[in-house]
Amino acid sequence: MLVDCSLTDEDKNEMVVTPWEVKGKVDYERLVREFGTQPITKELLDKVRKHTGEVQSQLRRQLFFSHRDLDIVLDLYDKGIKFVLYTGRGPSGPVHIGHMIPWIFTKYLQDKFDTRLYFQMTDDEKFVVDDEAEMKETTRYAYDNALDLIALGFQPENTFIIYDIQDIDLLYDIALEVAKRITYSTAKATFGFQDSTNLGWVFWPAVQAVPCFIHKKMTGENVPALIPAAIDQDPYWRITRDIAPKLGYYKPAQIHNRFLPGLAIGGKMSASEPETAIFTTDPPELVKKKIWNAYTGGKGTIAEQKKQGGVPDICTIYEYFLFLFEEDDKKLTERSRQCRTGGIMCGECKQDLTERVNKFLAEHQRKRERAKTIIDKFHIKR
Ligand code: TRP
Repeated sequence: MLVDCSLTDEDKNEMVVTPWEVKGKVDYERLVREFGTQPITKELLDKVRKHTGEVQSQLRRQLFFSHRDLDIVLDLYDKGIKFVLYTGRGPSGPVHIGHMIPWIFTKYLQDKFDTRLYFQMTDDEKFVVDDEAEMKETTRYAYDNALDLIALGFQPENTFIIYDIQDIDLLYDIALEVAKRITYSTAKATFGFQDSTNLGWVFWPAVQAVPCFIHKKMTGENVPALIPAAIDQDPYWRITRDIAPKLGYYKPAQIHNRFLPGLAIGGKMSASEPETAIFTTDPPELVKKKIWNAYTGGKGTIAEQKKQGGVPDICTIYEYFLFLFEEDDKKLTERSRQCRTGGIMCGECKQDLTERVNKFLAEHQRKRERAKTIIDKFHIKR
């Protein structure tokens, strides 16, 4: 396995980060070391700033913290070689706010660099990796999840959604070129395949590699792909990078984000624990209830908290402000200070967050409805 997956009862907090499972307390520095990615340095941020002016808050706050070849892609851009953006979604269920972190960031990059986005909906992946999954369901969610992407403001002129099952004819030749050059032994070491792993799953990583290269097939232009994604997807890109030069393509570059934690203690926001995740279609009352029940860095009683202060570093509510719901750095720092010195209680933070999340969702839900009328314009085969 990528990271030792042995979980014992005494050690429930052991970190597990694979494309199919994220558990325990995630140590991002250790991931950079073990996955062999590069941390995002101040020099690199300066390079980004040259193109974007103000650096977006998620980048500034190191929520995007690691990369591969982002520097190279920016240097090529300076020389007139553009890049394309590529990201995706495994449509196993409804979209929650955590899923949209890399998409929101992708929109920012697209606006600043004026590039195309290829977006892969992996209804095939979700079908093969989950014994219980039904193809009809994953295909239905691919469409449903695309509405959330479109609601974020992407435009059909430069955004191309690939629905794997429906569009496999477009992908298959490149998938074969990729698959032929990756041995079973490499795939097994990278993904931890077992004797019991089904064949569909074993082949599948070749399909996730394809959008890194599809731009050339679509336009004749050979440019690198830059992939904003959570760091659990890195193993795919490791094997894709190895074979890219053999096929005459640039190695795909990446920029990795941290996971938005769930509203319970530890771990990332997960659709399999619905009470700890805020879904994009949740009504205001439900959002309020979920936030109200969230794990915070507060103390047992108000008196204690006034005296000793809270701990924003472990607070899920604080993380939401940090990731998405407080753009202003000064106000964020002030909230943290107030918490630590006992000047603000958890109830106030929860109330503020509920208001902001519900405001965001009201707008998102409206745009999501409108997306239903234009979704076809985004299909790669339009
Ligand atoms: N495997 C991803 C998932 O399960 C979906 C995906 C496909 C993806 N291509 C991608 C995610 C590129 C990020 C970037 O969610």
